[in-house]
Formats: sequence, C-alpha cells, structure tokens
Amino acid sequence: MGAVLMQRSLPLTQPDVPAGVRLRPQAPDDADALGALYWDSYPKGVAAVDLEDAVEEMEGVFAGEYGTPVEQASLVVEDADGTLLGCVQTVTSPPWEGIPAVPFVIELFVHPDHRRRGLGTLLLLSAAEACHRLGWESIALNAQEETSADAFHLYRRLGFTEISPVGAVDG
Ligand SMILES: CC(C)(COP(=O)(O)OP(=O)(O)OC[C@H]1O[C@@H](n2cnc3c(N)ncnc32)[C@H](O)[C@@H]1OP(=O)(O)O)[C@@H](O)C(=O)NCCC(=O)NCCS
Repeated sequence: MGAVLMQRSLPLTQPDVPAGVRLRPQAPDDADALGALYWDSYPKGVAAVDLEDAVEEMEGVFAGEYGTPVEQASLVVEDADGTLLGCVQTVTSPPWEGIPAVPFVIELFVHPDHRRRGLGTLLLLSAAEACHRLGWESIALNAQEETSADAFHLYRRLGFTEISPVGAVDG
C-alpha cells in the first residue's frame, strides 16, 4: 500500500493556540531552520537523504517545485525563542496527477520532542481555516498509511476520508 489520497470539506473548527507557542506564515528565510526540522521530524530514509537535501526540499517548496504555495495556509509554529517546532505547507496545482483541484497539503511535520501537544492538529486546522477564508470548500492531502501512521490517524480523527484519484476509473 502506498499513499492514500484524502479530502475534507470545510470549514473545520480552529483550536486555541497553546500557551508559549506562536503561529505565523512561513517565510523563505526559514528554509534552513525548516530543513533541519524536516530532517529531524521523519525517520531517516523516509523523507530526505540528508540535512542538505532536506534544506533543498524546503527551498524547493518556496520556489514552487511542488505547486503554487498558498501562503496563508503554509504556517509554522514556534516557541517563545523563535525555535521552529512544526510546519504545514499547502499548495495549489501540485505537479502530480490525480489530485483534486483544491488546496493540497504537501507537508505536515512536528519535531519529535513536541508531539502529542496538539501542534500538528493546530497547524492542519489553521491551514484549513485559511483555505476556507480564501473561499475554498475543501482541502486534500496524501497520507502514507505505513510510514506515517500517526498522521493517518490524525487525518481520520479530523474527518478526512479517502477519495479516488481524479481521473481514476472505479472497478
Ligand atoms: C503527524 C504529526 C505531524 C502529528 O503531530 P502532533 O503534534 O503530535 O499532533 P497532535 O498532537 O495534534 O496529535 C497527535 C496525537 O496527540 C494527541 N494529543 C493532542 N494534544 C494532546 C495533549 N495535550 N496531550 C496528550 N495527547 C495529545 C492527539 O489526540 C493525537 O492523538 P490521536 O491522533 O491518537 O487521537 C507528527 O507525528 C509528525 O511530524 N510525524 C512525522 C511526519 C509525518 O509523518 N507527517 C505526515 C506525512 S503524511
């Protein structure tokens, strides 16, 4: 089994931001810190080859290599010192086939030391809320059921359901 395409209608309710953290749009200057966070957030060998590759991936996100970034729905959560703890990245028109024509969440990651505090949920719901404010009626994402069981569980809990790729023929 590989990636599972999921979609959720909007709006979704936005949770309160926990004390001690701040939510803000990501910016190109974050690429180095985001690369380090991305590298730390996935099991080795799953997302990037090494730290340099992880930074390049993040630079590629800003450069539009994975679709046109939706700035309002591409957010970081940071602590009081400005250390990045988590990130959600959303695009339109991603370069893959079968994706519905709605905002597509290409990344969601939270540092392992800061999980299970609601930050992943906060990021995803905040991105969803931003998309709703922009006039969209749903968002979509890919879940890797095998390598990202926590994420898959989170998406299901928030009401995301599996859909068939656009253009796929059932049966
Ligand atoms: C998926 C991921 C982003 C979730 O981040 P997170 O910050 O731990 O997410 P949350 O804290 O919002 O939710 C995770 C769990 O913690 C629980 N939780 C939330 N707040 C909590 C709190 N204060 N105390 C205890 N548990 C809490 C949630 O109920 C949830 O559990 P459930 O899904 O079993 O119901 C994170 O695991 C991650 O970065 N994984 C690696 C990258 C990845 O796989 N990304 C997705 C690619 S498809």
